[in-house]
Amino acid sequence: MAPMNTTTALTNHQVRLARRPVGASTRDDWSFTSEPAQQPAEGAILVKTLALSLDPAMRGWMNEGKSYIPPVAIGEVMRAGGVGQVVESKNAQYKAGDLVYGSLGVQEYLTLPEDQFRRNGLFKIDQRIGSVTQWLNVLGMPGMTAYFGLLDVGQPKPGDTVVVSGAAGAVGQTVGQLAKIKGCRVVGIAGGQAKCDWVVNELGFDACIDYKAGNVRAGLKEHCPKGVDVYFDNVGGDILDDVLTRIGRGARIVICGAISQYNNTTAVQGPKNYMSLLVNRARMEGMVVFDYADRYPVAIAELAGYLKDGRMKSREDVVQGLENFPEALGKLFSGGNFGKLVLQVADA
Ligand SMILES: NC(=O)c1ccc[n+]([C@@H]2O[C@H](COP(=O)([O-])OP(=O)(O)OC[C@H]3O[C@@H](n4cnc5c(N)ncnc54)[C@H](OP(=O)(O)O)[C@@H]3O)[C@@H](O)[C@H]2O)c1
Repeated sequence: MAPMNTTTALTNHQVRLARRPVGASTRDDWSFTSEPAQQPAEGAILVKTLALSLDPAMRGWMNEGKSYIPPVAIGEVMRAGGVGQVVESKNAQYKAGDLVYGSLGVQEYLTLPEDQFRRNGLFKIDQRIGSVTQWLNVLGMPGMTAYFGLLDVGQPKPGDTVVVSGAAGAVGQTVGQLAKIKGCRVVGIAGGQAKCDWVVNELGFDACIDYKAGNVRAGLKEHCPKGVDVYFDNVGGDILDDVLTRIGRGARIVICGAISQYNNTTAVQGPKNYMSLLVNRARMEGMVVFDYADRYPVAIAELAGYLKDGRMKSREDVVQGLENFPEALGKLFSGGNFGKLVLQVADA
């Protein structure tokens, strides 16, 4: 850890948005800068980034236009949630050495004044409850998304059939395991045999359909003979349409994400089979995890309990090095990540 008077000597390497991408983002969309880390003023803390959460939503934040959160400006440090270590504190709530979660940005250091603690979602993390990478996965934003999306919006009942796409990813792995814990039959949809084998053999899903290998509708017919009660949609596009053909009466469809559409250069592909909602008296509802922030502690406590008693497992895919951010981000859109994608920036 750096002694108090040397922080100005620390160099902060950063990744900034250089231009708005068209289609899939490339390395040329980013600029790599460095500047001295800022000495914290009274009330502020200086945080060293340890690991960053790489999220599909980042692609949306690179676009201009209205969304649930403002876009990242050209020239701005890329937004990212992450876990860091306080290296210098002039605030009574934190001491040097504390591990914190917050919106740290794709950079090595962040100096945060007290009036920005809340806006940056800053809180201390406890490694006795979960590892740094688990705090970015099950105990972090993806886990909160899975918990509130499934339980509040999906409202599964014991015996229900729950289908989740992106099943081996960050949100999907927790959705499926939580649905099993709640007594549901769980069918995943994922790309590739290895991911399907993992969710069935390691996580205890009842079945998994490899959408890259075959016909999703045939798989749903085979594995969801009584229809689909809850569909947790992470991908949108054709897979959403396929599931719509199989929903049961009163089904709940959680619109969590539509990663198949995020790199589109043409209009988003909307569901063709939406009349199935009418026929089945079903509903489709979007959710944004940040709306549940006040209830995160409840979800963290429950999920931490499942991690501790072994009913919940987690898998993270860790890429090393801030400089590898552009290529790492691309893995989310090719299916190159296996589990929650994390960028390791430094060691504690
Ligand atoms: N609403 C919210 O508040 C909220 C919060 C967090 C995340 N999300 C959304 O939740 C979804 C999952 O996020 P995550 O962080 O858990 O990511 P993730 O599932 O860990 O990674 C993305 C995965 O999406 C799959 N994928 C990529 N392109 C695809 C395509 N064209 N068709 C089908 N699958 C494709 C890939 O898995 P395969 O190998 O299986 O194809 C890839 O590994 C995203 O849509 C994200 O935007 C929403």
